[in-house]
This record gives sequence, structure tokens and C-alpha cells, in this order.
Amino acid sequence: MPVLVITGTGTEVGKTVVTAAVAATALAAGRSVAVLKAAQTGVRPDEPGDAAEVARLAGAVTTAELARYPEPLAPATAARRAGRAPVHPHEIAEAAAKLATEHDLVLVEGAGGLLVRFDAAGGTLADAAGLLSAPVLVVTQAGLGTLNTTELTARELRSRGLAPAGIVIGSWPAVPDLAARCNLADLPDVAGAPLLGAVPAGSGALSPAGFRASAPDWLAPGLDGTWDAVAFQVREAPRVS
Ligand SMILES: Nc1ncnc2c1ncn2[C@@H]1O[C@H](COP(=O)(O)OP(=O)(O)O)[C@@H](O)[C@H]1O
Ligand SMILES: [Mg+2]
Repeated sequence: MPVLVITGTGTEVGKTVVTAAVAATALAAGRSVAVLKAAQTGVRPDEPGDAAEVARLAGAVTTAELARYPEPLAPATAARRAGRAPVHPHEIAEAAAKLATEHDLVLVEGAGGLLVRFDAAGGTLADAAGLLSAPVLVVTQAGLGTLNTTELTARELRSRGLAPAGIVIGSWPAVPDLAARCNLADLPDVAGAPLLGAVPAGSGALSPAGFRASAPDWLAPGLDGTWDAVAFQVREAPRVS
């Protein structure tokens, strides 16, 4: 699995934090890692973007960013308004494939959710994943509302012949409510893909050393971690009443 595309059910769901956890876990397993942020919106040229945040948390990764637009908008809109060239899906795929020749693992983080547009032709991260035939990890929210957006995302991937590799919950609350606890069983069911981890809420605020030490505990063996989905479910899911 040299290239793993990381999408989410929306913006602010924890894609960057999950990308950092996957990167830290792969580094701990002795693998070389590159992180490609397809297009970074909403940051100034001198500000750290998502790829820099992954490097801060995870450590020695190669970072790459294909374009940066100042306004916090979908990349296609941000590019148009800035009067700048957009990033096309084939450019994302080519950059990821090149990084994959030099690294054991390339993590590609999109912008927002799966169908957010990158160019005026309607190109998306899903198109880039299709060009790469890469597995796609879906980052989801824990609580109420996540079943619908997760199933929509998984169905869109399947309609393109791209089975979701798995789901990771971007921010698992310290005190999960009933919906979050029930979702542990329902999320993999609606996605038709395994739950491959849950990153505890607050993890992004850990020290880098603390983040790196804990990251393997949040991710399943399929992502080089030690997270046990069954044990987590037994501990966190409600008893059937
Ligand atoms: N598990 C987590 N622990 C701490 N903060 C988190 C966690 N997940 C997300 N966040 C915070 O929530 C915000 C959105 O997360 P981020 O990973 O940037 O989402 P996305 O990349 O999907 O837009 C950020 O401020 C981030 O620090
Ligand atoms: Mg992000």
C-alpha cells in the first residue's frame, strides 16, 4: 500500500490529525513517509498548513503541497477567486506516484470531503484516487449524523470501483454519548469497511513526543498500530438493552 488517500466526511472532521497518527505509526514501524496536501486553502504563504501540522506531530516526514490559496474555500473556488491555476486530479496522482518511488508510504490529504472540487471541470480527490487505484481511508465524526455522511462517502467510492480501505474516527470523545457508542457497531456496517481506529479527542494538543508515543494505540494493525477494535467496542459500546 504505497499510496493511501485520506478523505473525510467533511471539513474539520480530523483528517489532518488522523494523517499525523497514521504517519507517526508508520514511522514507528520503520517506514519512510511522505505527506501530500493536494491543495491548501485558508492559510497565508508564511503560515503552516496541514502538511506542516502532520510533520510537527508525527516527525520526520517529507511534506509536499501542490498549491496554496488564501481564502478558506473549496480549492476550485479559491483558485478561481485568486486568479490562479487550479490543481487537477492528474497532478495530484502524478505527485503522489512520484513520492511513492522514494517513500514506503505516501499519505494524500484532500480538502474537505470526497467530492470537493479542485478545478473548474469538477475534478475531485476521488478522481485522483481513481487514477492511482489507491485505497481510501475515510475519517468520520463520532456522533449523531455521521452514519449518513459516512455511508454517502462509501457509496460514492464504491460507485467508482474504489472500495473504502476503512474508517477512522477523527475525534473520539472522553465521555462518548449514546449515539457515538452505538456508532461503533453501525459505522463499519453502513460503510461496508472496517473501523481501523479512533483518535482520542484532544490528541492534537499533545506534545509531539506524547502524540508519537500514543499514535500506534489508536490505529488497527492494518495501519501498523495495535488498536483492538473488538476490545474497544466491548469497553465503549452500550450493552444491548
Ligand atoms: N483527535 C483530536 N484531538 C485534538 N484535536 C483534534 C482532534 N481531531 C481534530 N482536532 C482538531 O479539530 C480541528 C479539525 O481537525 P483537522 O484534523 O484539522 O480536520 P480536517 O483536516 O478534517 O479539516 C483542528 O483544530 C484539530 O486540531
Ligand atoms: Mg486538514
